[in-house]
Amino acid sequence: MKKILISGATGLVGKKLSRKLYERGYKVEILVRSKSEKTDFKSYVWDYENRFLEEGALDNTYIFIHLAGASISKRWTKNYKKEIYKSRIDSAQFIYEKMLEENIHPEAVISASAIGFYGQVTSEHIFSEDDPPAKDFLGSICRDWEAKVLEFEKLGSRIVRIRTSTVLSEKGGALETLKKPIELNFGAVLGNGQQYFPWIHIDDLVNIYFKAVEDVSMNGAYNASAPDFVTNEILTKKIASHLNKKIFLPNIPKFIIKTILGEMSVLALEGSRVSSQKIENSGFKFNYDNLDKALADVIN
Ligand SMILES: NC(=O)c1ccc[n+]([C@@H]2O[C@H](COP(=O)([O-])OP(=O)(O)OC[C@H]3O[C@@H](n4cnc5c(N)ncnc54)[C@H](OP(=O)(O)O)[C@@H]3O)[C@@H](O)[C@H]2O)c1
Repeated sequence: MKKILISGATGLVGKKLSRKLYERGYKVEILVRSKSEKTDFKSYVWDYENRFLEEGALDNTYIFIHLAGASISKRWTKNYKKEIYKSRIDSAQFIYEKMLEENIHPEAVISASAIGFYGQVTSEHIFSEDDPPAKDFLGSICRDWEAKVLEFEKLGSRIVRIRTSTVLSEKGGALETLKKPIELNFGAVLGNGQQYFPWIHIDDLVNIYFKAVEDVSMNGAYNASAPDFVTNEILTKKIASHLNKKIFLPNIPKFIIKTILGEMSVLALEGSRVSSQKIENSGFKFNYDNLDKALADVIN
């Protein structure tokens, strides 16, 4: 059995991906920061800050999938921004150095990245993988994250970077936050509502990772974003409709959102359109290519 080692495997994406890989015959092993949580797979403790890795973690790694990262949904204080950065970039560097030390050469390293790579830009431009990184906080994080992951090429590995949109899933993630006020009849469109909201259904994302594992022709950066472009206004109204609710309140003005969220308000008030052409050209078919279909699945 081929061993797939996953960091951040206890999270939203990791849980579903681990299960799928296991069901398809892979040996899944995971890196965890603490063994307190019960997991379905053999787990190894790692602490990249103190350079600790439990013995045997890297043995026979066929593919390493790097999903670890502190959530970007908490307020971006100076210290927390450092954690967002280190949990993705320093952690990748640590595993790279350990693999070098232990002479481990995975066939592939597949890493999460985010469409924040391109910045949050509400414009006519549709971003593709050839576009440069944005100069803002998330753009710089994604740029450095991907650059760090590319270092594994020196081990002879194929490198796939999955630039992920906001993941819609049954439980947890952004949809839970978006649903709550609407369920309580406090739902409202944010700002002028014309900012794009790039999204992907969790099952499609898991299938993209799975394809990256099996399809050795996949190499480089791929946008993981559904082909259906929607704005915050469309999203808010569609979520309401799937919950059998109505939006009664007026739009929430930008300045209020900026006051509440600070720098991270950009996530609510701006958004880019991102092309899915490259992943589709590679033969991938979205099961959830429009928002109504995705919401019908994750909400109803
Ligand atoms: N979900 C989305 O909408 C979305 C969109 C774009 C990109 N992504 C990226 O895709 C990856 C997976 O996303 P997800 O939604 O599954 O994330 P998640 O649910 O927040 O899980 C991330 C995992 O990372 C580990 N982690 C958390 N804080 C950490 C820290 N300070 N240092 C090291 N590890 C830490 C945790 O695993 P342990 O507790 O087991 O260590 C956690 O289960 C992330 O890198 C995320 O940035 C997600």
